[in-house]
Amino acid sequence: MIVTTKELFQQAYGKYALGAYNINNLEQTMGLFKGNVDSKAPFIVQLSKGARSYTHKRMLETMMQTADEIFPEAVFAVHLDHGDEAACMDCIDSGVYSSVMIDASQEELEKNIEITKRVVDAAHAKGLVVEAELGLLKGIEEDIKSEGHVFTKPSEAEYFVKQTGIDSLACAIGTSHGAFKFAGEQKLRFDILEDIQKLLPGFPLVMHGSSSVPPEEVARINAAGGTINGASGVDASQFLGAAKLGVTKINIDTDGRLVWCRVHREFFRDHPEQFDLRGPGKIFIPEYAKFIAAKNVLLGSAGQLDEVRAALKK
Ligand code: G3H
Ligand code: 13P
Ligand code: ZN
Repeated sequence: MIVTTKELFQQAYGKYALGAYNINNLEQTMGLFKGNVDSKAPFIVQLSKGARSYTHKRMLETMMQTADEIFPEAVFAVHLDHGDEAACMDCIDSGVYSSVMIDASQEELEKNIEITKRVVDAAHAKGLVVEAELGLLKGIEEDIKSEGHVFTKPSEAEYFVKQTGIDSLACAIGTSHGAFKFAGEQKLRFDILEDIQKLLPGFPLVMHGSSSVPPEEVARINAAGGTINGASGVDASQFLGAAKLGVTKINIDTDGRLVWCRVHREFFRDHPEQFDLRGPGKIFIPEYAKFIAAKNVLLGSAGQLDEVRAALKK
């Protein structure tokens, strides 16, 4: 059942966070749905602009509708991750997405508001909801590049939310995309979340760049021929603390890519004579499902499905 992120956030606020998982292909789709159904978790599927152009945007949209039929128990939102205005408008018209992210965070405040407001008006008119971003994550997010963290300013966040009418806000608190998040110890600015929550009580916040980059996963990849050095991620024991401060959506992409990479490297290392894609694919799907189910336990979303269904009366 495809629902909006807003409906999921209303149930989760202050208690747990929804996993927002980026996927690109069929094997990830199967593992994602299986893992969430197995762990009885509502969830968010994130489709990036890059994912939409990897094969074809229609292929992804159709996969979402078909997954909905194959897994009737699943309760999920279909969300555009880091969209520009054109991508948002396209998803709003698709009839499949229930939520879009407009990322105009590279623009100065008033311009960000202007663009975001146009997307909000179009989305709300069709029953979709909107996430937007204020502040910049260090590194690369789709087409946006930033040399350093530009932390979200709480007073600007309040102004931005009121001016735009958005449904959730992505905040920059020290996380970043990819597998190399911290040079030394991890430093997350939970004080920023706390201040935003005081100004916007009950308003759903989003944490991007929240993969944990497990050292054991990286070690297995490297033992099978990888050369990923100096990788580090977000300590997952922080997720529930973030949830208490209003974070209802936690974005995870890199960790899923690491599972894919580990399975495929180990498979072809151990079976150098093989060339059938279904060999590693058959291992990857349940491994990815297991990864999703374990992540949902850390997010607190595991086991929430029946309550969410009852609250949605669906
Ligand atoms: O924020 C970026 C997400 O991890 C999506 O990555 O643009 O390579 O699909 P991508
Ligand atoms: P990671 O790179 O930490 O998985 O973050 C993904 C993300 O924020 C997608 O929008
Ligand atoms: Zn992101």
